[in-house]
Amino acid sequence: MQPKPARASRITLSLLMPPAEANLLGNVHGGYIMRLMDEAGASAAMRHSRRPVVTVAVDQVLFKEPIHVGDLVTVEANLTYVGRTSIETRIEVSAQNLLTGETTHTNTAYFVYVALDEKGHPTPVPPLLLETDEERAQWEAAKARQAYRLSQRQK
Ligand SMILES: CC(C)(COP(=O)(O)OP(=O)(O)OC[C@H]1O[C@@H](n2cnc3c(N)ncnc32)[C@H](O)[C@@H]1OP(=O)(O)O)[C@@H](O)C(=O)NCCC(=O)NCCS
Repeated sequence: MQPKPARASRITLSLLMPPAEANLLGNVHGGYIMRLMDEAGASAAMRHSRRPVVTVAVDQVLFKEPIHVGDLVTVEANLTYVGRTSIETRIEVSAQNLLTGETTHTNTAYFVYVALDEKGHPTPVPPLLLETDEERAQWEAAKARQAYRLSQRQK
């Protein structure tokens, strides 16, 4: 399979935060943000593999700052690592108050997907073409994270 660069599958979603997804204080629910993160990560993984994917692992998700109703949330997904059938994506979330222009980075997390064939079994995906020193460094860090996840799986 031909290697593909991360820039070919990068995804950016931008959405206005609706009242239906917030609590009584107007803070958006964490579960809604995680859903958007998963959708962005899965879209990037499908763009790379051109296969349906399922989420196999989600690393710690920390909400450092609240996101409010009416904020413009941007979710960016980038591939950091590709195994034989698995794909790690780095998801970055930021929120902008459209009235003040203030933008807050609210969280970063790693989501791992597995590409599936027609029978629902894991299937090989194209290798990731690393183009920059930053991508090479992210790959090494991602490899270590994946080894840790798999070591936890065996326990
Ligand atoms: C994802 C799934 C198909 C993997 O099945 P499996 O029997 O573990 O398959 P394999 O052992 O062949 O592993 C497939 C890939 O997943 C990776 N993987 C498996 N468990 C993992 C874990 N805990 N963390 C990270 N990667 C993992 C493996 O390393 C392998 O990647 P590689 O081919 O790049 O080396 C299966 O666990 C599944 O269907 N899970 C449910 C997925 C789902 O429904 N997600 C939505 C949840 S709401």
